[in-house]
Amino acid sequence: MKRAVYPGSFDPVTFGHLDVIRRASEMFDVLVVSVLNNKVKSPLFSVEERVKILKEATKDISNVEVDSFSGLLINYAAEKNIHVAVRGLRAITDFEYELQIAQTNRKLSEGALDTMFLTTSLEYAYLSSSSVKEIASFGGNISQCVPDFVAEMIYDKYQIRR
Ligand code: PNS
Repeated sequence: MKRAVYPGSFDPVTFGHLDVIRRASEMFDVLVVSVLNNKVKSPLFSVEERVKILKEATKDISNVEVDSFSGLLINYAAEKNIHVAVRGLRAITDFEYELQIAQTNRKLSEGALDTMFLTTSLEYAYLSSSSVKEIASFGGNISQCVPDFVAEMIYDKYQIRR
């Protein structure tokens, strides 16, 4: 069984993430999408909310599992017996950061965890969770960025009525 993990903050999931999830799910028997429980960042949505959102947004893809993790990705992947991490690359600006994480994970895991990059579809290359949140916080239109139910949840957080 070929299994992979797609780790991230997913605060919240965007159409860019969903594009990567859909494509990666076609390459593996099981894709575990896992939300990092990062105590340092102050997210808009709790880990539980992000997991719930991801489950709803991926409910039509039968081989996707949604989970969360704390600590090092290599330890989480080892516990789950997963040897491939999937990440999306939007632009060259993502590359340096992603390359460093991928190489660190490969070195730290002594080769047990490799990273596979999918280039984000061009129509979503401009998207990031941060920009979606900023647009929403000023009452802007995010209907092309996230599923409708996610947009509603973001506006609710900022107490924006549209
Ligand atoms: O969506 P993000 O915030 O860009 O995802 C970053 C993520 C979760 C992939 C990365 O921060 C991560 O794997 N963190 C877990 C801690 C870890 O394993 N660090 C070592 C690699 S530098």
